[in-house]
Amino acid sequence: MDRKQIINDPDYGNKAEAFEAFDDIPTNPNLSRTIGDVINARYGRRDVLRGVLGVTATTALFGTSAMIAPKQAAAASASRYNFDELTWGNDETHHIAEGYNADVLLRWGDPITADAPEFDVMNQTVDAQLKQFGYNNDYVGFTSLNEDGTRGLLCVNHEYTNEEVMFPGLGRQDRDGFKGMTKDIVDIEMAAHGGTVVEIAQGADGKWSLVKDSAYNRRITPYNTEMVLDGPAAGHDRMKTNDDPTGLSVIGTINNCAGGMTPWGTYLMAEENFHGYFWTDVRDSDDKADVSAHSDAASKKRYGVPGGWYAWGKYYDRWNIDKEPNMPNKYGWVVEVDPRNPDAKPIKHTALGRFRHEGAETTVSKDGHLVVYSGDDNRFDYQYKYVSGGTIKDETAVFGSSLFSDGTLYVARFDEDGTVEWMPLVYGQGPLTAENGFNSQADVLIDTRLAADLLGATPMDRPEDAQPGPNGTAYLMLTNNTRRKPDQVNAANPRPESSFGHIIEIKEDNQDHASTKGTWSILVKCGDPAIAEVGAQWNPETSENGWFGSPDNAAMDADGRLWISTDQGSGWGKTGKSDGLYSLETEGDLRGHSKLFFRCPVGGELCGPYFHDSGETLFLAVQHPGTDGTKDFKGFERNSTFEDPATRWPDFDAAMPPRPSVVVVTKRGGGKIAI
Ligand code: FEO
Ligand code: CA
Ligand code: CA
Ligand code: CA
Repeated sequence: MDRKQIINDPDYGNKAEAFEAFDDIPTNPNLSRTIGDVINARYGRRDVLRGVLGVTATTALFGTSAMIAPKQAAAASASRYNFDELTWGNDETHHIAEGYNADVLLRWGDPITADAPEFDVMNQTVDAQLKQFGYNNDYVGFTSLNEDGTRGLLCVNHEYTNEEVMFPGLGRQDRDGFKGMTKDIVDIEMAAHGGTVVEIAQGADGKWSLVKDSAYNRRITPYNTEMVLDGPAAGHDRMKTNDDPTGLSVIGTINNCAGGMTPWGTYLMAEENFHGYFWTDVRDSDDKADVSAHSDAASKKRYGVPGGWYAWGKYYDRWNIDKEPNMPNKYGWVVEVDPRNPDAKPIKHTALGRFRHEGAETTVSKDGHLVVYSGDDNRFDYQYKYVSGGTIKDETAVFGSSLFSDGTLYVARFDEDGTVEWMPLVYGQGPLTAENGFNSQADVLIDTRLAADLLGATPMDRPEDAQPGPNGTAYLMLTNNTRRKPDQVNAANPRPESSFGHIIEIKEDNQDHASTKGTWSILVKCGDPAIAEVGAQWNPETSENGWFGSPDNAAMDADGRLWISTDQGSGWGKTGKSDGLYSLETEGDLRGHSKLFFRCPVGGELCGPYFHDSGETLFLAVQHPGTDGTKDFKGFERNSTFEDPATRWPDFDAAMPPRPSVVVVTKRGGGKIAI
């Protein structure tokens, strides 16, 4: 189906669903290169040999006798996560495991500066939104302002906007050429994107609240936040635009999905689906462009630019590639924000590459290099990591550190023998030469995808969050890929037409995150283990509440334990479960054992999660409540609108649509979570 057909297809209930369906059409030209393997295609040879398959999957392949030994062994060890599992389901509100509080801390529209007006949903303005909490909260990070961490700065990304439930009477806009949009609405949309930094404090009762008059509180938006660029692509001719002949600055950041906090307490915002914001007035001629060489047209095509999913380019030249053909080159980066200095311009670090960065989680290698893992969230795109040239010393561990401008970006190749090779994206090395259209390191970074194609990286099932763990481990969320054909499977992406995704565990050589080699294994293959055709792989002790689909974000808690949040999008009806947060065992006999801890209201995905250093507070972000797949919500069975949403979470006020919100989880009576 082409773009127009998808937009008009009644199966896609809102713009976000249509956007994701259209994104199904891969831009990676290298798909025929992948190697099929009959056993790996369904189950992964290495996992079979290690005996860690789930009962149903193994029974389907080998008969019931195969699973007796692991099942007995699993019963012998205890869960590392001490909580009573929540029951699965899907309804209008959120749910948390017994014995915990899950309190709403910040909602879309909440005033966050001392001079901000109260939220008036029927009379929204750009000036108000610029002082209020943004829409669709995704990444959440926290950095302490005092020793015990009872005061600190919460850093939150606002990924995108859902016009059909944000604005009265507007409805869905992509189907009719955005005819209902006005410049005022576009401005509010821009002001609702980006990020928020706010001071929060914990009271004697253990409850967290916003410090509304704090001087730290601010919004970061694509509407008006000035930013600078650093690293090898900064100042390059391809970064120059009419409003910036230096190629060193840019206004704002877009589609900030997940992110990370640095070891020195700054905040990283990853720019994900940046292509969707660029407009052209000559869309019909797109396909006639010459993309045979490494041309500007080839670059745009590989990134899906212009996506045309927002009308901003109708009102602003900077979002219109007919007027500003280089502007897309200024997006698709990782942005660093100094939350402690509201006057510091955020920095886009080009050394980390340009792609649809899901997130940017950091760690420090054995000898002090900064390491950043980041996935490129598109079907058949790649997993990356960045390793700084220098090491962390007092003088470098600051905002704008050279650790982010001088380093090496690598892309992953997952081999059939269970090894992973991190291949450097360095100008002049291997095929990254003028012969192939790369004339500088700036070219390599601006066209990271084209460079990675030439290196033969492994096309993955939509790399979402990549979470480094203890001892040189990293956990990769591969969320799903319904477009992978049986002859396109590879060992690391073993299921064709995967609706539910999987999680890969990497163990870097020498337990060192800076290593350029490591080993990998599949920790879980998601989906219902009771349905053999799904080919799921869980620890057999996992209950019907504990399995999940479409892992998206991940976090490590204060005790080095892994937690996973899910985003099934409009496909949640395939599991019947709302999105939620799960604990996931990585070690011992219970490896691959998952338990449900929190679940979202209908139509929402769960983002964050982020654990306070104390282990006693967990921050969660409920994104787009009431929107995705509401046609599958029993009793409602239609698309949500502002006037008629599937839920009015969290206010449940007839005058208020659903509001994306940050939720704070604490244990009743205090203490560490799940201990
Ligand atoms: Fe914004 Fe890849 O989720
Ligand atoms: Ca995500
Ligand atoms: Ca994470
Ligand atoms: Ca997702």
